[in-house]
Amino acid sequence: MFDEYGFPRDPYVDHAAPTLATFVYCSRAAEGVDDAAVGRMVEWAQHRNVARDITGVLVFGSGVFFQWIEGPPAEVETLIVSLHSDLRHYDIVALDRCVEKRERLYPNWQMELVGADDIRAVLQEALEDAEDENNIAALRRILAHLSLGPLDTLGRR
Ligand SMILES: Cc1cc2nc3c(=O)[nH]c(=O)nc-3n(C[C@H](O)[C@H](O)[C@H](O)COP(=O)(O)O)c2cc1C
Repeated sequence: MFDEYGFPRDPYVDHAAPTLATFVYCSRAAEGVDDAAVGRMVEWAQHRNVARDITGVLVFGSGVFFQWIEGPPAEVETLIVSLHSDLRHYDIVALDRCVEKRERLYPNWQMELVGADDIRAVLQEALEDAEDENNIAALRRILAHLSLGPLDTLGRR
């Protein structure tokens, strides 16, 4: 019940769980990045994620990505750097980035590609939970784009 310094333990921290880094973000697909290109990219990423012990989910819909990444902190940091210099997407908005002791949310998904017929609901939920002003503004911009014109032109705006 008490840790070595005599402070009560946080009942919500699972001390037996591994230390995991989590990175959650959304971004916009670059021009020409279609379902086929994303499918190839995910197949390759899955091999890489097995080697790095990274798991998670990638949602792709209406020209927008939403990704949940979890794994060892050093491996997740390396992937974050790569993602920021990857020209296949832009307007990257970090929604959550933390290191904590917890079990994986997606232990068996080396990066599952989930189609989103309507990614608005996913982003709307993220907006409701967002506290950072910049994230809120960026999410509103993305949602505003989603309500303009044919969805399949989003990536070309
Ligand atoms: C939306 C999106 C999601 C990606 N997800 C992953 C991933 O889960 N794992 C991975 O290794 N690379 C992923 N990549 C590819 C990385 O950005 C990068 O190309 C890859 O890690 C190789 O980086 P490196 O050349 O710096 O080693 C993703 C790229 C995009 C555009």
